[in-house]
Amino acid sequence: MLQSFMVAALCAAAAAADLADEETREAMREIFQSMRYLLPLSAGDSWQDAEQAEPVRDALQTVAERASLLAEHAQGDLELHYLGSALAATLRKALQRYERAEFEPARFLLLRATDYCIACHSRLPAHKDAPQAVDFVNGTVLVNLTLGQRARLQMATRRFDDALASLETLFAASGVHPSQLPGALVDYLIISIRVRRDFDRALDTLHRFTQRSDLWIDLRADIRHWLDVLREFRSTPLDPPTLALGIELIERATDGRRYTTDRRSLVHYVLASSVLHRFLESQPQRDELAHAYYLLGLSEYRIGGNFWIPQGELFLEWAIRLAPASPVAADAYALLEEEILAGYTGSSGLHLPEDERQRLQSLRALIGARPEQEL
Ligand code: HEC
Repeated sequence: MLQSFMVAALCAAAAAADLADEETREAMREIFQSMRYLLPLSAGDSWQDAEQAEPVRDALQTVAERASLLAEHAQGDLELHYLGSALAATLRKALQRYERAEFEPARFLLLRATDYCIACHSRLPAHKDAPQAVDFVNGTVLVNLTLGQRARLQMATRRFDDALASLETLFAASGVHPSQLPGALVDYLIISIRVRRDFDRALDTLHRFTQRSDLWIDLRADIRHWLDVLREFRSTPLDPPTLALGIELIERATDGRRYTTDRRSLVHYVLASSVLHRFLESQPQRDELAHAYYLLGLSEYRIGGNFWIPQGELFLEWAIRLAPASPVAADAYALLEEEILAGYTGSSGLHLPEDERQRLQSLRALIGARPEQEL
């Protein structure tokens, strides 16, 4: 399935892109209408009401169908295809649970589904917010959610300015300790850099954040470093978004080290991911596409924004499958193996599920690693 889609993806005609844009927007409007009904309902007390059963089922079904359609029309965009299919699959699972009167799991899956909306919307620049979603959070019971959760739903519905405002209020709230904010800081940087490209606003907000008296030494130093990087790139336009620029930013982030896990390079990784996502829009050749996915995989693991979606893994796997004979595939495999093994290692050793073992072995075979290197 992935293989055949990848081949189709590489052959996709750029001429169809305009049509796809209109289809995408139409599918989105229908998805949004259904989510506008489902999400506030699931956050209130009427989620289990029998009289809502029919419209809830219809709405879940609609989102699943439209998301599948979106995936089918992905026009060569591997990520769009994956996120559309995964959104559809999550909604189908939510519907199954709902049909079995398992309301809590259904509610949980519906909320998880919004992570796909966020992942898809926050890849590329957008200059204005979706007008139809203006009251989606602020005019419904969703306004009772925490500021961080509200910001996520605002991202999901393309209300990026509202999301920035929610996060700014959160950063200034004295009742919330900075140790509770790493995810919110990542969201803030992603919106400011990738979507809004508004470095001045990010500089203001982060500068104010460093004035808080409860930051620990390391966090303050890291954020000051982010401020330096943002100041540097405010006047460097990051255009055109070439692969070479993406490579340069990753080199700055890693600073010669392959496995940096610290927060300090976060802004460099978000800048790199922004350039690379925009680079993919230019429909590059296969080798360059693979290289871009390798670097996006690396960045995704370092940014760590999406706990529920294995984007880092997917990007690395695509890099390997697109150009298995390239040196990039070997690097991508090395990183993927390390990350997957680390994910399954506990105090009692490695517990690698059989399907993951087979997946790694098939990728190894693709890149021509020696077969005696058994996992
Ligand atoms: C596979 C990628 C993808 C996923 C998943 C996705 N969207 Fe979108 N969405 C888009 C694109 C692309 C646009 C068009 C942006 C533009 O106009 O340039 C869009 C536009 C929108 C708009 C504005 C529509 C308009 O009339 O301009 C809303 C609202 C929206 N999405 C809500 C959602 C919600 C809610 C979800 C999750 C349930 C979601 N989207 C999931 C890609 C996605």
